[in-house]
Amino acid sequence: MIKIGIPREVHQGEKRVAATPQTVLRLRKLDFEVGIEKDAGSEIGFSNGSYREAGAYVFDNVRELWGWADVILKVRPPEQNSQLGIHEADLLREKGWLISFIWPAQNKRLLEHLASRKATVFAMDCVPRITRAQKMDALSAMANIAGYRAVIEAANHFPRFFGGQMTAAGRIEPAKVFVIGAGVAGLSAIGTARSLGAIVRAFDPRSATKDQVKSLGAEFLEINLKEEGEGIGGYAKEMSEAFIQAEMNLIAQQAMEVDIIISTALIPGKPAPKLITKGMVESMKPGSVIVDLAAEQGGNCVMTEPGKLITYKGVTIIGYTDLPSRMAGLSSQLYGSTLVAFLEELRSDSGLKVDYDDQVIRSALVVHEGKITYPPPVMQPALPEPGMASKNVVSVSQSAAGIAVENETKKNLNPIWLILAGMALLLIGAFVPPSKLSHFTVFILACFVGWQVIWNVKPALHTPLMSVTNAISGIIIVGGMLQISGSEINLTTILGAIAVFVATINIAGGFLVTNRMLSMFRK
Ligand code: NAI
Repeated sequence: MIKIGIPREVHQGEKRVAATPQTVLRLRKLDFEVGIEKDAGSEIGFSNGSYREAGAYVFDNVRELWGWADVILKVRPPEQNSQLGIHEADLLREKGWLISFIWPAQNKRLLEHLASRKATVFAMDCVPRITRAQKMDALSAMANIAGYRAVIEAANHFPRFFGGQMTAAGRIEPAKVFVIGAGVAGLSAIGTARSLGAIVRAFDPRSATKDQVKSLGAEFLEINLKEEGEGIGGYAKEMSEAFIQAEMNLIAQQAMEVDIIISTALIPGKPAPKLITKGMVESMKPGSVIVDLAAEQGGNCVMTEPGKLITYKGVTIIGYTDLPSRMAGLSSQLYGSTLVAFLEELRSDSGLKVDYDDQVIRSALVVHEGKITYPPPVMQPALPEPGMASKNVVSVSQSAAGIAVENETKKNLNPIWLILAGMALLLIGAFVPPSKLSHFTVFILACFVGWQVIWNVKPALHTPLMSVTNAISGIIIVGGMLQISGSEINLTTILGAIAVFVATINIAGGFLVTNRMLSMFRK
């Protein structure tokens, strides 16, 4: 059985722990043995007893724990354990595995240190932000908490209500909050500030965030300069000097108007852009608050002191770098869950396996058996095969046998075929008896409209489309039944029977597909 060890975090002020009793239970269900350092979670309400109850061994001796475990789970990158006078990388047993936040771009020496131990190390901060890896996305889990907590810290130091009120004693204006950067933390801050009743504005250079900001009930501010901020992997890229200048003009104007600024502007692997100057801070009203979530990367405000709260001319500037740790119970639970999901990804029949073809595993793998494997190679999305049209669509087709979801190449129709089909229809129309001509016209129009509607519907909308076609199929069935109700068998009754049969397949298939799709959203 693979042994998982969870030591207490040694970083000063860090209260989080890499497993909670709930996540230990999940690890035990996955057939892992779990050991945890004594009092690793006592400070945040997870007693040694609750870990024992969940099935973990509680280790008094931390050296023993590091030596016992095949895989160590941690929150912060390994650092010097001042109590023991030894670096945590040296506590990791030779060829041991480690899963933790590592920040490899900033911690090259740590990577070398871990490599010298012949370790295999996975950085949770390198898990790619792709849909499949959402349950392993520790960065988003922590950013969400940081955004929420930033608003709570701001509210704690802001001398007024967030929401406006009309009282007998007078009118209270709502607070105005400006959020710089609408990534995961920014959006979380917007949602929290809105729910407290503040007027919220936001800015981000990535145009994709505009709708997200608006959907949370905030106003998206824009500048008069077109430059797309989205770079590789959906992250922001470094903006041009002209853009930053225009943005700073916008921030200067907002600083005079708003009561609270929450800044979250970051570019991966780069120092935080300096966007709030001393002059802007001076222009803010007394009692205003700035919460700088970029403090750890140098801060978006020139006056931010990482890890500290300062006041300058009546403005409170909060540069705390431990916001998730200030809600350590919840953070540990969410982070622990991402670790369980990651271990599930690593699991194979023969234990744990490093699969270089798995994009999530390969991206997170920073050291493998003593070899530094960071940065990972750029993984290309699958290219269409030669000869295929560029526009691949996924279509849902219904057949007598049931439902098939298939990749199909959407071909453009040659106009010659359309002309030929039109001429053929005109020819048929010339021979149709006048009494049936109006039916024939309706039939042709229905075919044309129906075909156009279905052909142009996006695959994502096939389910609602099927509900509509079910209604049409219902009408067809009624019409078909009227035709076959006569006693004699002729072409009309046969066609009626075929119509009833085909429409029934369509309705049954429609229900089946809808049911399958709905079950994807049910737990
Ligand atoms: P982050 O923490 O690296 O950056 C925070 C925000 O700062 C970003 O929105 C960025 O656009 C903004 N920013 C950068 N320069 C700025 C400037 N000069 N002024 C104002 N704002 C600036 O980003 P985070 O929150 O970790 O995620 C960024 C993106 O990653 C997401 O919005 C999304 O596109 C992607 N993502 C995808 C997920 C998925 O499962 N598919 C999950 C989470 C994130």
